[in-house]
Amino acid sequence: MAHTLHVKAPDAGYDILFEPGALRRLPAILNAYSLPGRAVIGTNTTVLPLYGRALASLLSDAAVVAIQDGEQYKTLDTLAALYADLTRAGLDRSGLLIALGGGVVGDTVGFAAATYMRGVRLVQIPTTLLSMVDSSVGGKTGVDLPQGKNLVGAFKQPELVIIDTEVLPTLPDIEWRCGLAEVIKHGLLADPTLLDPELLRREKAAEFLPRAVSVKVRIVEQDPFEKDVRAHLNLGHTFAHALEQVSGYSWKHGEAVAVGMVAAVRLSAALALCEPDLPGQLESLLAKVGLPVRFPPYPPERLWEAMATDKKRQRGKTRFVLLKGIGKPLIMEDVAREAVLSVLTELTDR
Ligand SMILES: NC(=O)c1ccc[n+]([C@@H]2O[C@H](COP(=O)([O-])OP(=O)(O)OC[C@H]3O[C@@H](n4cnc5c(N)ncnc54)[C@H](O)[C@@H]3O)[C@@H](O)[C@H]2O)c1
Ligand SMILES: [Zn+2]
Repeated sequence: MAHTLHVKAPDAGYDILFEPGALRRLPAILNAYSLPGRAVIGTNTTVLPLYGRALASLLSDAAVVAIQDGEQYKTLDTLAALYADLTRAGLDRSGLLIALGGGVVGDTVGFAAATYMRGVRLVQIPTTLLSMVDSSVGGKTGVDLPQGKNLVGAFKQPELVIIDTEVLPTLPDIEWRCGLAEVIKHGLLADPTLLDPELLRREKAAEFLPRAVSVKVRIVEQDPFEKDVRAHLNLGHTFAHALEQVSGYSWKHGEAVAVGMVAAVRLSAALALCEPDLPGQLESLLAKVGLPVRFPPYPPERLWEAMATDKKRQRGKTRFVLLKGIGKPLIMEDVAREAVLSVLTELTDR
């Protein structure tokens, strides 16, 4: 059942290993990849008792350090404490840092690996669906600032990414659904076979993950430093970031991405870029997997304002990733305010 995908990266490139049960075989896997030596497992307080301790006991001489659980801890303060823990654990430049957890752990521990002693080797072991399909691949790491999300970071390519679907049964349903939003995004961008609600079930994760991950791999290989096509991965995200911000981050990212993709596809249809029935197909798929398809009753102008002030805008313009059809994304920067407001109005729950 094991399956490997190689990612070409600017320096060396790395493998993504898909293997149910891989965690139990970690020492052999690290040996096979010539990654023995002293390892420190960086995880969080939730994943530590679930998988972290067992993993540490398999590796001779491994230490384990845990950060607090939650996006609110993806900070410079957490990073400072983590550096101190790594020193205490005796990690030196020849050592290996293993990020075991969801995207918050992957980003924070990954950034520590990029910067601690000017960089140590990193293995990513994502344990949420979102981190398997999205954040563990592509080398972006970093933390948030009070001024905004992910404002400090570095590109840090891992030596290896290990995807073990046997950790998924403990994942809360809401986290599973949020990950599915990014899987569906990858389907819309490049692989229509992913747009099947029968496939997107937890027991089929080992079946669909290699396809879902390979969409991101192909995009980041073309654009490792996010200069052009990597922006396609932001499908639905201009709307999603606005909704997250206006809701005071009470909306989860994946749920906001679901509604945001509906808006982006509706906008594409309104601009006659794609077939008029694509928005309906997407809404029905999202509803079947339990994701939202409507904005809560915020004034559309507030969402528009939030988009216009998003700190991640390029050259002062609001960018939308739109679709000419499934597998045909394009970027537009000069979408009329009226067109956006009209889509938001149509999609707002009253
Ligand atoms: N670097 C990138 O390219 C990139 C891309 C997308 C998102 N991100 C970042 O990823 C983060 C979101 O990641 P996420 O959605 O994985 O959230 P998360 O890391 O907060 O994990 C969600 C929750 O699931 C728990 N958890 C993790 N694995 C579990 C398991 N197997 N069983 C039970 N519980 C488990 C976590 O402790 C947490 O409570 C954000 O900070 C975002 O900015 C980064
Ligand atoms: Zn996202």
